[in-house]
Amino acid sequence: MSYKLFIPGPVAVSEKTLRAMAQPMIGHRSSDFVALYQSLQPGLQELFATRDPVYLSTSSAWGVMEGALRNVVRRKVLVCMNGAFSDKWHDVALRCGKAATALRFDWGRPVEPEAVRRKLATGGYDALTLIHNETSCGCMSDLAAIMAVVREFPEVVSIVDTVSSFSALPIPKDELGIDIILTGSQKALALPPGLSIFSVSKRALARAADTPDRGYYFDLLEFQRNHENGMTPSTPVIPLIYALQSKLDDIRTEGLAPRYERHARLNRTVRAWALARGFQLFPEERHGSVTLNCFANNLGYDLAALNKTLKTKHALVIDGGYGKLKGKTFRISNMGDETDTTIADLIASLDSALAETPRLAS
Ligand SMILES: Cc1ncc(COP(=O)(O)O)c(C=O)c1O
Repeated sequence: MSYKLFIPGPVAVSEKTLRAMAQPMIGHRSSDFVALYQSLQPGLQELFATRDPVYLSTSSAWGVMEGALRNVVRRKVLVCMNGAFSDKWHDVALRCGKAATALRFDWGRPVEPEAVRRKLATGGYDALTLIHNETSCGCMSDLAAIMAVVREFPEVVSIVDTVSSFSALPIPKDELGIDIILTGSQKALALPPGLSIFSVSKRALARAADTPDRGYYFDLLEFQRNHENGMTPSTPVIPLIYALQSKLDDIRTEGLAPRYERHARLNRTVRAWALARGFQLFPEERHGSVTLNCFANNLGYDLAALNKTLKTKHALVIDGGYGKLKGKTFRISNMGDETDTTIADLIASLDSALAETPRLAS
């Protein structure tokens, strides 16, 4: 059965992207690959607003999230936590044997710059992790304000996850002084999963050079060395790289400003619809994500029944809440290739499905 995904990743992949993936294979050490790899750099550097190289990792985002820790944490990392993915990042740091301090905020609350300053000021930190857009609860932190604080601590290398915000709003890496920025393919880029895209400052590369036990697969120095020859350290997922090339063409055609505006507009459309139906946004409105909306299930709908109706009668799926928020919230993505028409269709389907969805006794 085929149905359209409105979950916050993976999201729907266009026919054009799927066709791009079906091109004949090339050798990853061939001049054709070098040309393909190098053709992506200008578009990716523009999206990250960086002059640093952009690397391609054949892994999901977690590969680079873990690898970044192994490359730059020598003393202690401050892990900013306000949802499922940032909570897990702390666990991953501990599993890598790193000293990691948790800076916890309630799910749905943004990371507070002042709290970051207070923690870093206690000393001993040489890295910080931050998730710009906590997909699990639809909460977007103020990246510029947090990075302004981080820049006060020159020994702290910043690792920023823009997995579910990249390419949906401006994220100026160099201007903000972000050392390692990473994203995944299956979110706003609307590609299939399996590719992580990231960019690293010279400062972070220098730190990596002094850090033991970096391993091989995610060694930043290997990425840089291969990048200089237009290649990746190991055999990459070439079909996804073709898909990325096709997507960067789409982005160029649409233009960055219209792309950002489209994401913001469609996000507002979904939010306005739900608020008008009496749902509440789970995070405070001003901290709501622009790529998805996480709504409280304050009206007590049977979300499993809702999704069953959506899938069987309307051929689409939304998300019924992540982790401890399952059943208590629902999430609707507006990232990727969505348009006013597809979002209007989604809303019509939601209205129709809600009308036949039972409410659970509280
Ligand atoms: C903000 C954020 N970070 C990290 C991840 C992990 O990504 P992956 O499962 O592709 O490694 C996700 C996945 O949804 C995410 O939303």
